[in-house]
Amino acid sequence: MVLLGKNMLRDSNQIVLKNIYKNFGNVKALKNVSMTTDSGKINCILGDNGAGKSTLVNIISGVFLSDKGEYRINNKTVEFLNPHEAISAGISTVYQSLAIIPIMNIYRNFFLGNEPLNNEYFKIIDKGFAIETTIKELKKFDINIENPKRLAGTLSGGERQLLAIARALYFGAKILILDEPTSALGVKESNKVVEQIILLKEQNINVILVSHNIDQAFMLGDKFFIIKNGEMVGHLDKFETSAKSLRTILEK
Ligand SMILES: Nc1ncnc2c1ncn2[C@@H]1O[C@H](COP(=O)(O)OP(=O)(O)OP(=O)(O)O)[C@@H](O)[C@H]1O
Ligand SMILES: [Mg+2]
Repeated sequence: MVLLGKNMLRDSNQIVLKNIYKNFGNVKALKNVSMTTDSGKINCILGDNGAGKSTLVNIISGVFLSDKGEYRINNKTVEFLNPHEAISAGISTVYQSLAIIPIMNIYRNFFLGNEPLNNEYFKIIDKGFAIETTIKELKKFDINIENPKRLAGTLSGGERQLLAIARALYFGAKILILDEPTSALGVKESNKVVEQIILLKEQNINVILVSHNIDQAFMLGDKFFIIKNGEMVGHLDKFETSAKSLRTILEK
């Protein structure tokens, strides 16, 4: 087995999961699940509540190890013992609810534990650099923040999600897992986030999007993986399917 070290991801990265099983006690959360996701694509994982979507992305992001099966990146078998190892390798996850800490200011949220220091010995944060970088990186996602000293709790839901995405990319994510990124958002906020997710393809990010929203996923996605009761029941490319047929497979 080869361990994937820091910065070992390339510009293009392929994830292959093969015959993955995961049980929680008597619950068979994943049964013989296989999937392949590529860079420059939005790879959607679709399924009802309890289908196993989060379990699958938790395996990719190092939260859980699978009980059985193979996890390969760029043809090398990998094993992440915790999310930190996955993040160091370039795999980041943005969760719907845990995207930011509301009572901390925006620039601290952006750096969160990785604050730039202007004095290593006394651990003094380089505030100027942190603030400047936050403004610049958020602008790339069409968010114009004049004062990043504001509390992050004053950001809209969509802006919070985009801050978390901007942060992941700034720290080198090449594989980005988005677990229901718009489910808590209103239509307008949701559209803003969707527009920016589409642009991630231009940066050749391997986007893995978990969603309940078939219409939105179909509009955004290139590849669709449908999970039902822990099993992969459908695997379709966009050209060979429609939102209607994805829905039919899900409801069968
Ligand atoms: N840590 C855990 N301990 C025990 N059971 C778990 C654990 N995590 C998930 N499960 C169970 O595994 C199954 C799959 O759950 P999972 O969270 O992967 O579903 P999901 O598709 O993400 O659902 P949702 O759409 O509701 O988020 C469920 O029956 C769930 O209760
Ligand atoms: Mg889930």
